[in-house]
This record gives sequence, structure tokens and C-alpha cells, in this order.
Amino acid sequence: MPHRLPVDVSTIPQKFRAPSNAATAGIAVEAERVNVVVVGHVDHGKSTFVGRLLHDTGSLPDGKIEQVKKAAEAEGMSFEYAFLLDALLEEQEQNITIDTTRIYFHTKKRKYAIIDAPGHREFLKNMITGASSAAAAFLLIDASEGVQDQTRRHAFLLSLLGIRQIVVLVNKMDLAGYSQERYAKIVAEYTAFLSGLGIKPAHFIPISARNGVNIVSKASETPWYTGPAVAEALDNFEAAETSDAQPLRLPLQDIYRYDERRLYAGRIDAGKLKVGDKLVFNPGNKAATIKSLETWNAPDKTEASIGESVTLTFNEQIFVERGNIGAPADKAPLVGQSIRARVFWLGKNPLRQQTTYKLRLTTQESACVVSSISRVIDSSTLDTVTSPEGHALQVNRFEVADLTLRTHKPVAFDAHDDCTVTGRFVIMEDSHIVGGGIILVSDEERRALANNVQAHHGDINHTTRAARNGHPGTVVWLTGLSGSGKSTIAAALERRLFQSGKQVYWLDGDNLRLGLNAGLGFSDADRAENIRRTAEVSRLFADAGIITIVSLISPTRDARDAARKRIGAGKFVEVYVNAPVDVCRTRDPKGLYAKADAGAIPQFTGVSAPYEAPLSPEVELLTDKLSVDACVEKIVEALHGASDFVAEI
Ligand code: ADX
Repeated sequence: MPHRLPVDVSTIPQKFRAPSNAATAGIAVEAERVNVVVVGHVDHGKSTFVGRLLHDTGSLPDGKIEQVKKAAEAEGMSFEYAFLLDALLEEQEQNITIDTTRIYFHTKKRKYAIIDAPGHREFLKNMITGASSAAAAFLLIDASEGVQDQTRRHAFLLSLLGIRQIVVLVNKMDLAGYSQERYAKIVAEYTAFLSGLGIKPAHFIPISARNGVNIVSKASETPWYTGPAVAEALDNFEAAETSDAQPLRLPLQDIYRYDERRLYAGRIDAGKLKVGDKLVFNPGNKAATIKSLETWNAPDKTEASIGESVTLTFNEQIFVERGNIGAPADKAPLVGQSIRARVFWLGKNPLRQQTTYKLRLTTQESACVVSSISRVIDSSTLDTVTSPEGHALQVNRFEVADLTLRTHKPVAFDAHDDCTVTGRFVIMEDSHIVGGGIILVSDEERRALANNVQAHHGDINHTTRAARNGHPGTVVWLTGLSGSGKSTIAAALERRLFQSGKQVYWLDGDNLRLGLNAGLGFSDADRAENIRRTAEVSRLFADAGIITIVSLISPTRDARDAARKRIGAGKFVEVYVNAPVDVCRTRDPKGLYAKADAGAIPQFTGVSAPYEAPLSPEVELLTDKLSVDACVEKIVEALHGASDFVAEI
């Protein structure tokens, strides 16, 4: 529980307050200051640890400890190191230039900022405001309680954010009688969990924050412990690369007029800039050359680097807005409306597809929806979560999901591997942070960008075409075994839609294999390519305004999910043409089952190659029970549901 004591803030020296220049806040290494985040279960002794660290490293102001002791006495409480931290934090809270809890101190070697992350939400918020990119982390575990769900989640978050330097502090060793056995058990359990995340902690250290054991020097209470004390481990952290070797990333915060001039303000999140540099702002691709760096009551400047807030003027007037990211022309961020990401979900309500949320990425904001979810992981067990048969995946609180977001407007971003700050975002719902994520970019996506391949769009789009046709372009994707009835239903559906005046075209798997896909066989790779090409062609047909019927065995879920993603979830109607394999075998319209049984067709789906039934198709047709007309009717009904335009089919 938080302890609160009355404190006279004026006695707190400046070094514990937030930097007066907000420009210096917010990077892993600022003037050789290393940011270290302290995380742990609420009751595992974080405040006591930080208070003790400040005290034992001689970082407290003179008289501070006496003052807090006296205040405690006056309240009839015995002194605790946690009170010290509270006293310092109270001061921090009054300083509105900071949005995170930061405590500044130093060892003999260098300066540090300790970032307290009281909960998951604060952690995500800090990470996205850029106020606390940490180079390293202390993770606290209570020796008597051991590894808890929250301890595992914190580790997961650290791994998600790419914080690799981690020291695990096994605290309250005094309560565990300094038992080596207890310590070893926790080390073994947590090491196993962390290795599942690809994290190898730099050290485990047995400590007692309350008694100052193993904080600045090795203590006699743990003679069996051979590693470093906390202060030594801290000084061993690498200060992390400063990122100013990376290309410039300057998200704009504000544009204002001053003396007839336009001033462009933002904080450098990566790289550096100087007068004369040509910058390109995205989204929008607007270029300008830096004319000056404005300063007030300070010497003139001609260059600036990561972590600094800058105000620029340009040689030419450009129309850019808050959220646009300035970068070198040849190393611009990616721009798009589809973002693949790994997201940690915190919302009380599960994350759902097709619900509109707000995405915040540096200073950019856009409405967004989740267009597909490919995998869900429980962050405290690392187990993959599967959804019940027939249900779409959803993401519950404290789960992590690999998913694709579709933003309402173009957004500039980087892969998290390339630039951490522009490679992550938070998701908001009703102005609350409900999730945070890092951006993943595949080699294919990267290659397209490297080749300067960019999408071009005319004025005529999906909506304008839909308005003229009276219905939108949509893909009706029939999947199922050979002989299940795909082609029969496709032909009947095409006839029905054509006769009711719709723009419709049927793309049959066999036909495509005679032309576009000639040369592809039935290996896993060839089938995947067959489906990829078919999905791409049907996407183009649907974009052209046509109701496109695809009939393709398409035996794997992955390939069909990829097709759904490529085409867009709202335009993809997956129809599972389901007949038991024995029924298909009896029908055997092309005599292929007989051939396959005789061994003449290797890898025949349903015989010697697998078929993965859809988990949540829009339509399922039991063709051994339903007539062709009834099947067509069911698909038409689903089209009604998928769109207003098709109402009168
Ligand atoms: S998919 O698996 O790549 O989606 P697709 O629908 O294009 O298959 O082609 C299936 C058609 O190819 C079948 O209708 C059948 O005529 C023919 N075929 C030939 N070899 C095989 C095989 N090993 N497995 C399935 N179909 C095959």
C-alpha cells in the first residue's frame, strides 16, 4: 500500500526534479545518463529498493533521511525506505513537465534515471510518449512469494519493447532466511520462463532492500552468492547505442506562426539534423530544407540530435501537420494504412475485429480497426490461445496478439527492429490506453519498399464503382475437398447473380491452372503460390467492382487467412463446401480418388495430403444434405449480411 508523508518539497534538490528543459527528457541515454526501469509485482518491494539504492549510493540530499524519519515518527510509524521514495515522488507529481516517475541519481561511474512503472498501463503510456525508453531493467521478485503472473507479464512487456538488459533482483531474502535453496529455486523457474522469451538476464541477485544486503557491496548474509552487488551490475549495463547513427525521425508536435515565419516544432526521436539538411515529411511526402534552428535565450545552434526538442524554419513553405514525421529523403519511414503488429492488450473489454479504436504512434493519431488476428498468446504462460471451433479469435486482457491493423488514414511508421520509437504505438478506446504494440514488417513488405514500389490510386475507387454497379466488389471464396461441389455451386451462383443484374465472374482453380498458374504443381509451396496468385487476382477483380467467385481446394488455413488479409476482411466471404470425404469419393466426378487410391496422384488432398477445415467460415454448406439451390440461397443471404448494396439480389 502506498505510504504518504507530509514533505517540504523545497528541501528537495534540483537533481531529483525533472529536467527543466523538456528537450532532454525521453531517451535511453542522454548526456551519458542511463535510464533504468524498475518493474515488479506491486508488493515485491520496489519503493524500498529504490529508496535503499538512493541512500546507499549516497544520492540523497543531506538531512533527507533524518527529515523523513522525523515525519514518520510524528505519525507514529517506524521508518521505512519506501517513505523516502514517496517523499521524492510527491515532489515529482507537482512537476507537470514530466509524465512519468523518474528519479535521478548517480554512482561513481555515471548518471542514472530510475523509471518507476507502477502498472502495465503506465508502462505502455511511458513507452509511447517516449518519456522512458529504458536501456535496462531491474525486475523484482519477492523471495517468499516467488514468480507471479505479473512478474511474467512484466518480463513479456520488456521483451516486447526490446529491452534486453535485465537484472533480476530476488528481494526480501531476509524473510526467506537468506536461503540459498529458495533463491536457486526461483532462479531456475524464472530462467526457464525468460528463455522462452529469448531473454537471458545479465544477473540474478539475492537482496534484502530493507536491510541493504547486496545493494552497493556484497554482504556476509549470502556467502554462497558469487555475482555482483546491485550497484556493480548497474554500472555494467551497456549505455545502449544512442541511436543518433540511425536515420532522423522527427515527429512534428506543432506548427506555429511567429513574426510572419512558420516554425516547425518536434522532438528528435532518432538520428540527428543540421541546418541545410533536406527533410521529407510523411505521410504526404513534402520536402523542405532546414534554414535555421531557433533558440531562445541560448547560443545559436546549427545542429541537434536524438532526444532534443527543436524548432525549425525551412527555406520553402510546406504544408505539413502535427504527426508528420521528418526524415532524410532516402531513408524515409514506411507509409501505409495496413500495419502488422504484436499487441499487448490491457482493455477490460476484449479486443475485437471490426471495432474502431484510436491508434497513437508518436504524435500521429488515426482511427483504426483490427482487420485480422493471426495468433493470440497468453502473456503469463506464453501458451498460444486457441478459440473454440467456429469462433473468431478475440484478444482478452493480458493476452498478446499478432494482428493487422487498418488505419483510416495513411500513417508513417517503421519496423520496431529499425527504430523503436516510430516502431511502436498504443491503442486507445474512449481516451484510455487499452493496448500497446510493436510493428512487424516482413521481408516481402520491405522489398517492395526498397524497390520504390508504391501504390497509386485514381479517383475511381471501390466505393464509386459499387455505387454505379449497385453492389460492391466482393470475393466469395469456396474451399473444400475435390468433389465436394465447389464448381457446381460456383456455376449456379454465377448464373443466379448474373441473372439478377450483378457484375459477377467465376475464377475456377482448374481453369487458372491452365493459364496463370500453369507450371505450379501440388507441393505445399506450389499450392501456397497458387492460392496467393488466385487471391491477388480475385482482389483485383473485387476492386474492379465485380462479385468474384473463387473455387479452389485451398487446403491450408494459413493460405486462406493470407487471402482474407490480402483481399480485406470485409470483402471476403469464406464458404466451406463441406462434404465427408467418403461422399466426395463416391461422387469422384473426375475419377481422381480412384487414381489417387491407386497411387497415381501423389499428395492428393483428402487422401494423401491434409485438408484443414475453416474454423470460422462465413458460410458452411453441407452438400451431402443441401440441394444446389439451397446452397446458393445461403451464400446470397451471407452477401446480404455483408453489404447493404446487395440487398435486392
Ligand atoms: S489447391 O490445393 O492448389 O488449392 P486447386 O483447387 O488449384 O488446388 O486444384 C485442384 C484440382 O487439381 C483438383 O480439382 C484436381 O482436378 C487437380 N489435382 C491434381 N492433382 C491434385 C492433388 N494432388 N490434390 C488435389 N487436386 C489435384
